[in-house]
Amino acid sequence: MPVPYALIKPLFFAMDPEVVHDLTVSMLEKTQRTPWASLYRQPRIEDPMRLCGLNFPNRVGLAAGLDKNARCIDAWSSMGFGFVEVGTVTPRPQAGNPKPRIFRLPQERALINRLGFNNEGTDRFVHHIGQSLHLQRPTLSPVLLGLNIGKNATTPIEEASQDYLLALEAVYAYADYVTINISSPNTKNLRSLQSDEALFALLTLLDQRRQELAAKSGRRVPMMVKIAPDMDEEELRLFALTLKRLCPVDESAKQGLWGVIATNTTLNKERVAHLPHGDEAGGLSGAPLTASSCHTIRQLREHLGAHFPLIGVGGIMSADDAVEKIKAGADCVQLYSGLIYQGPALIKSVAQALKNQPLKPTLS
Ligand SMILES: Cc1cc2nc3c(=O)[nH]c(=O)nc-3n(C[C@H](O)[C@H](O)[C@H](O)COP(=O)(O)O)c2cc1C
Repeated sequence: MPVPYALIKPLFFAMDPEVVHDLTVSMLEKTQRTPWASLYRQPRIEDPMRLCGLNFPNRVGLAAGLDKNARCIDAWSSMGFGFVEVGTVTPRPQAGNPKPRIFRLPQERALINRLGFNNEGTDRFVHHIGQSLHLQRPTLSPVLLGLNIGKNATTPIEEASQDYLLALEAVYAYADYVTINISSPNTKNLRSLQSDEALFALLTLLDQRRQELAAKSGRRVPMMVKIAPDMDEEELRLFALTLKRLCPVDESAKQGLWGVIATNTTLNKERVAHLPHGDEAGGLSGAPLTASSCHTIRQLREHLGAHFPLIGVGGIMSADDAVEKIKAGADCVQLYSGLIYQGPALIKSVAQALKNQPLKPTLS
């Protein structure tokens, strides 16, 4: 029987956000695969969907950043997610920005973070994945695993592609899909990779390396590009054009070689500027992001066409918010801040609500 989140939340919210985060991750890591997992286990809502050639058990995933080092994959799976995205991982370990670097804005059910890809690097990352039930006994763990990769802060932006290639090689064998994170606001100049020429160059290199890895492994892993909600209409149009240039034949988009995750956190903090911590540097997530990420998804769907895989994330605080994402054009959704404010029951209510939404005619 899961512990009601309403009982724990006041305790959590009385503590420093990053301390709670680290405590939670280590508690989940220790208890997963033990009888204590019943404290957070929930039935997985069955709502099978095929996207990118993969079978998703349901349409609700964990967004990247909550489990940067892939320590708790089996715990997330027991909570009923259909897919779990871990990372962002960089080739080498790095400490991230100085603390404090996560802030709660409870009046707006929001968070601001400037973590800066603090993570243990790809070696530890794949070591943790190797220990998961997900990898050792896949038949017992139907969730799909997304591995989100980024560049080290010390790597100059002109050499960013080297870091992405190294990270891709390190994680490829373990991934159901790989996410190319070019939209964190907390790594200097990272978002410049979203512009058309830089993006085309980076994705072309990654595509070539994927072909080599696929030839060796016999498995072609789909790649998702994660973008910011702060692009204007023209930037989004160019972004979509670039992706379509990479998949010139409509067929290859249908095979799901590429997809998009929209969106990362926003730099637009107008709505929270008057609140304590509202002017902290970093990316804003949670309720203030709901509408702008839906807007980005709607525009992307229009530019990418009906069949391009699109995962919606940003400010899903309720089942209704998730339904809005699907109506805006997303194939499935991910949660982060909603989980902090509502607890794991949100996974079930979102999955249940999406089960009642018709599946889009996305081809796999
Ligand atoms: C504390 C924190 C850390 C995050 N770290 C990452 C990350 O490492 N990589 C990434 O792609 N997104 C990261 N994100 C962004 C989330 O995955 C998500 O895209 C964003 O928070 C919007 O969703 P939400 O409103 O449901 O939180 C992070 C978000 C938060 C709040």
